[in-house]
Amino acid sequence: MIGIFDSGIGGLSVFREIRKLLPEQGYIYYSDSAHCPYGEKSKEYIIDRARSITRRLMEMGAEIVVVACNTATAAAISILREEFPIKFIGMEPAIKPAAALTKTGVVGVLATAGTLKAEKYLDTREKWAQSITVVEHIGEGFVELVEKGQTSGAEAETIVKRSLVPLLEAGADTIVLGCTHYPFLADTIKKVAAAHGADGNSFHLIDPAPAVARHLLEVMEAEGIQTASPEGFSMELLCSGDRKELLHTYNSLV
Ligand code: DGL
Repeated sequence: MIGIFDSGIGGLSVFREIRKLLPEQGYIYYSDSAHCPYGEKSKEYIIDRARSITRRLMEMGAEIVVVACNTATAAAISILREEFPIKFIGMEPAIKPAAALTKTGVVGVLATAGTLKAEKYLDTREKWAQSITVVEHIGEGFVELVEKGQTSGAEAETIVKRSLVPLLEAGADTIVLGCTHYPFLADTIKKVAAAHGADGNSFHLIDPAPAVARHLLEVMEAEGIQTASPEGFSMELLCSGDRKELLHTYNSLV
């Protein structure tokens, strides 16, 4: 059984990719929507939430946990690895593949405030951004849009524009989606970029979720964790907030 958690429904963008590789697996997804967003919360607060969610997932039978949240990965994954006897898979800011793709030499990163100031992010940037320029912006209001299910339309475009345009104006042709909520806004981001003159052939959005799913599979195989459940696919949805809303979003997004 694989446990997955996020501050809300963003982790479902990671689950979509995992399910492609492990279609017969049993899953438990925990949406911490009563405490969402994590982006501006303190490290201690996020560590506390991550601990109690991990306990719950393990009680329900999770043998491995995917921290499907960049902010929680940056704040808490090293503590989780110290304190719990299972493997944790986290999110990596995809600066390395972005550096390989950019033609302008400028990579834009959209993420939460928590991710952008975390040591984990700063180390990754230092390691892979030697020969490129990295420009960053918080995706202001993005998480709230996705949690409301409002991933397109005029309001979504206005909100996306505010954070995306400064990156485009700095010359970015490749944008790293550094928060698991943001892939649900991919079409709106592309639309806003095109309206701002980005060329559809050379403009790239990078979502690290497929790479995270491949890494999960490798770790499960190395650890001898079954990659298919005898009962086939199952999904248990847990939520600290409104579960009805989560069910509705799950059915519309996944
Ligand atoms: N989905 C999250 C991430 O990947 C957290 C967003 C938030 O709660 O601020 O960073």
